[in-house]
Amino acid sequence: MNGGSPRTGAEPRAPEPSLHGDERIAPPPEPTRVFSGIQPSGFVHVGNWLGAVRNWVELSTRLDCLFCIVDYHAVTVPYAAAEMPSRTFEAALTLLACGLDSERGILFVQSHVPEHMELAWVLTTLAPMGELERMTQFKEKSEAYGVQAGLFMYPVLQAADILLYKADGVPIGEDQLQHLELTREVARRFNRAWGETFPEPRPILTDAPRILALDGKGKMSKSQPEQAIGLLDPPDVIRAKLRGAFTDPARKRRFDPGNPDICNIFFLHHFFSGPEDIARVDRDCRTAVLGCFEDKMNLAEHVIDTLAPIRERADELRSDPARVHAVLAGGAERASAIARATMDEVRRRMGLRA
Ligand code: TYM
Repeated sequence: MNGGSPRTGAEPRAPEPSLHGDERIAPPPEPTRVFSGIQPSGFVHVGNWLGAVRNWVELSTRLDCLFCIVDYHAVTVPYAAAEMPSRTFEAALTLLACGLDSERGILFVQSHVPEHMELAWVLTTLAPMGELERMTQFKEKSEAYGVQAGLFMYPVLQAADILLYKADGVPIGEDQLQHLELTREVARRFNRAWGETFPEPRPILTDAPRILALDGKGKMSKSQPEQAIGLLDPPDVIRAKLRGAFTDPARKRRFDPGNPDICNIFFLHHFFSGPEDIARVDRDCRTAVLGCFEDKMNLAEHVIDTLAPIRERADELRSDPARVHAVLAGGAERASAIARATMDEVRRRMGLRA
């Protein structure tokens, strides 16, 4: 990635002062074990990448990390069984192409480690109904697909994913913070009921915790592929998607001056374009020297260049699917060893199978 001055916050806006920049406040300690997950929903987009995955790659170079393709989470909404294997494969391939590998960290598929389900059941006995009812994702998805218990229990399975490995750091985008808060609550309740067992995991956010959809309406998400740039989208698709993207809504005509501070396209420049280009766009947009269309096509070329190495590695891996399957098989084996030990401890503490 080029440039990318750190930006925080949900909407495009100026950076906020970092708490940790204040010398009186010590930064939190580094986590000892990191866990995170992604749904195999067809494709991985730049929101996933900027909000989570590129951080996974960085963390995996220096910490004990597990990354999971959460297929049991994906079955909470309607899907075609025939498509699930390729969705899971695509997710694994894309993550490997982004730079994860079996030497650094464990990459595996949730359903290959059945202890996730076992711990999830145990945790349902501790999960507060009121908080589950308040989950934003539960409300949105039940509106779209109808209310069912799987959507309701979704965050409990997520808590099981994390606690099964006693992870204390969870690199996620902003949309998952509510689920992580529930995980912390469930960990506290378990420890209170059955003795100190689990750490309370903390979120690890990037400087892009919420990337907006290309139409600027809500977060970029896999459910709206036209409004999301896929990491493996071919150059022409990236150009076409950006051509239709929204900019500063107040800039109606070509010679109206624009305001980059409220422009989603300008926000994206920070993660794909160099500092000189960013400064030029900032200046030339405000003076209407630069038009929105030209700017979007300029961003498209930077996005294409930044993502090119990921696409190349993905093409290589696609010609060697056995390698991807081998990483997942090895990952499941290593994850299972940890998962079994945790479940043994959980059962012992709870007086089961004594
Ligand atoms: P999922 O598959 O929706 O997304 C994977 C990761 O990408 C982040 N993300 C974003 N970040 C910034 N801007 C966006 N527009 C954006 N869209 C997605 C997500 O926050 C996430 O970090 N429930 C989880 C999967 C999960 C999980 C877990 C995560 C299951 N078990 C345990 C962490 C720990 C989900 O659906 O992520």
